[in-house]
Order: sequence, then structure tokens, then C-alpha cells
Amino acid sequence: SGGACCRMERTFIAIKPDGVQRGLISEIVSRFERKGYKLVAIKLVVPSKQFAEKHYHDLKERPFFNGLCDFLSSGPVLAMVWEGEGVIKYGRKLIGATDPSKSEPGTIRGDLAVVVGRNIIHGSDGPETAKDEIALWFQPKELVSYTSNEEKWIY
Ligand code: TYD
Repeated sequence: SGGACCRMERTFIAIKPDGVQRGLISEIVSRFERKGYKLVAIKLVVPSKQFAEKHYHDLKERPFFNGLCDFLSSGPVLAMVWEGEGVIKYGRKLIGATDPSKSEPGTIRGDLAVVVGRNIIHGSDGPETAKDEIALWFQPKELVSYTSNEEKWIY
């Protein structure tokens, strides 16, 4: 109600190599679509190890950092930008807790993953990281602006 002009935000979501290899792309994309969020960018890429290290730079002191970056760069990643009211926070809710053994059923990790090192999906954890991650993975011209006919029924 009242239009969708001012509270729209964007988040970076990526299906990691395990999710792509397991054939979970359509399952995951459809959860974001059905919720009512709008896809504004999408591409399949194999990141280099150096690129993975940039993406996870906040975690470089953690013991799992090297393995994590090896894993992210081990195969195709589906990189996406999703838009909608509250999408950063609610996207994390759809994804579920970092460790799938603690994620609630009904969440992506809760339903589809078992261990923390293979938790199939990434989502930005706040407005600042969302901005940085979108800028790292996408050029501005790759973000597509369009009106979806559903928006007037969602907002
Ligand atoms: P983190 O940013 O803490 O979690 P999230 O992906 O939910 O934002 O960690 C990034 C990734 O690092 C996480 O998705 C999986 C991996 N990881 C491990 O392999 N072991 C660990 O103990 C943690 C905390 C994370």
C-alpha cells in the first residue's frame, strides 16, 4: 500500500558451488520469487581464490578462512541481487542460521543443508555489506531496472 518508492533496498545473495552442483538453483530462486522480492541481477561465475578472499575479507583471521575461500572458488557460484522492502534482513531469515544443524526447518539451510562448511548460500548481513558485496560482484550496468506487474499487489 502507498507505493514502493522509498523503502526499497537491495541485497547480495549467492548460491555457493555446493548448491549449484546439487541442482538447488531453481528451488532457492523460487523461494525469493514467491516471497515477493524482485530479481535485479543474476550471473553464473567461477570466482578466483583471490576474489573469494576479497568477498570474505572480514573473516581473514578465522581458522576456516582458507578452506572457505578454496571452497567458494571451487566451482560455479550463482550471484544475484534481490530487491524489496526489508530484503536484507528477511533474506537472512529465509536463508537461516549459519550452521545448518541449528537452522530452523522451513529455512533454506534448515531444509537443504547439513554442515556449516557446505551451507549452500550466502546473503549480505547488513546494509553496508550489501552495498559493498553488490559493488564487488556486479558492475552498475548489470543491475536491471524494471517494473514488475506484481508490485502493485505486493506493496
Ligand atoms: P559467516 O559470515 O559467519 O556466516 P553467514 O554465511 O551465515 O553470514 O561465515 C561465512 C561462511 O563461513 C559461512 O557461511 C560458512 C563458513 N563458516 C565455516 O566454515 N565455519 C564456521 O565455523 C563459520 C562460523 C563459518
